[in-house]
Amino acid sequence: MQPTISLADRVAIVTGGRRQLGAAQAIRLAECGADVCLADVAHDDDMSATVAEIEKRGRKALPVVCDVSRRDQVESMVEACVRELGGVHVLVNNAGISSRETLMEVTDEEWDAVLDINLKGVVLCTQAAARRMIEQGRGGAVINLSSSTGLNANVSRGPYSVSKAGVIMATKLLARELGAHNITVNAIAPGFTSTAKIGGRDGTMFYRGKDETGRVFAKLALQREGEPVDYANTVAFLASPLGAYITGVTIPIDGGFTIP
Ligand SMILES: NC(=O)c1ccc[n+]([C@@H]2O[C@H](COP(=O)([O-])OP(=O)(O)OC[C@H]3O[C@@H](n4cnc5c(N)ncnc54)[C@H](O)[C@@H]3O)[C@@H](O)[C@H]2O)c1
Repeated sequence: MQPTISLADRVAIVTGGRRQLGAAQAIRLAECGADVCLADVAHDDDMSATVAEIEKRGRKALPVVCDVSRRDQVESMVEACVRELGGVHVLVNNAGISSRETLMEVTDEEWDAVLDINLKGVVLCTQAAARRMIEQGRGGAVINLSSSTGLNANVSRGPYSVSKAGVIMATKLLARELGAHNITVNAIAPGFTSTAKIGGRDGTMFYRGKDETGRVFAKLALQREGEPVDYANTVAFLASPLGAYITGVTIPIDGGFTIP
């Protein structure tokens, strides 16, 4: 096995791939040789820019409108990926929304939206993509986006934290269910990126204020915040043959933020 990350002849799906963390992952996977299907609810200038970055690297990019919480749309998206790009070998379950609600205050609507997209979406996309991987008979890799808030109790993000903790258990269960087909299932738990903002149910973006930045920095071992490419590098490693014997784990990528 070559000691370099190669995804030649592989096709990857990145959900929520049009911007920020998802775009960084999609571009890194393309740099390693994969063609990439970008599955996202929104198609805008960010999506066009990410498609252009992938094509600049000599790889194919397929943008598909898809709500990961809708089974019919997920199945159509995977079919389009197989039809247009020739298969599916890597799935990155990156799509997600955030929430500032505590569990004592959260409404039914907010709870349902966060859990449907962040947790049910992971399972729906894995069902559809893994069925194709099994038919193809070449194994595969699934990488789920958890979060440091799925490892540490963070009251200001109640339903979000619960959904990201659920992703960790879904990762373990799916790893057991799919291991016999040589499909690995792992998660990453990104930490703090001050420029990062994540959209909520109603489209509002959550920015991290100065207070939060100070609190987080005091808990970091490495004296810098994470960059989207820090997370994307681990996604590429887990997707590649170099990560072939790793399954069922969640890797914190947080500069030491969650060291107990
Ligand atoms: N940014 C951070 O600091 C951070 C930290 C830990 C974990 N994460 C996780 O990383 C992932 C990406 O976060 P980000 O910061 O890039 O956020 P973001 O809001 O920029 O990206 C999320 C993407 O998902 C898409 N999306 C939302 N709902 C969708 C749906 N129903 N179906 C398909 N696509 C949908 C959005 O359109 C967007 O492109 C999320 O799962 C998030 O929870 C982010």
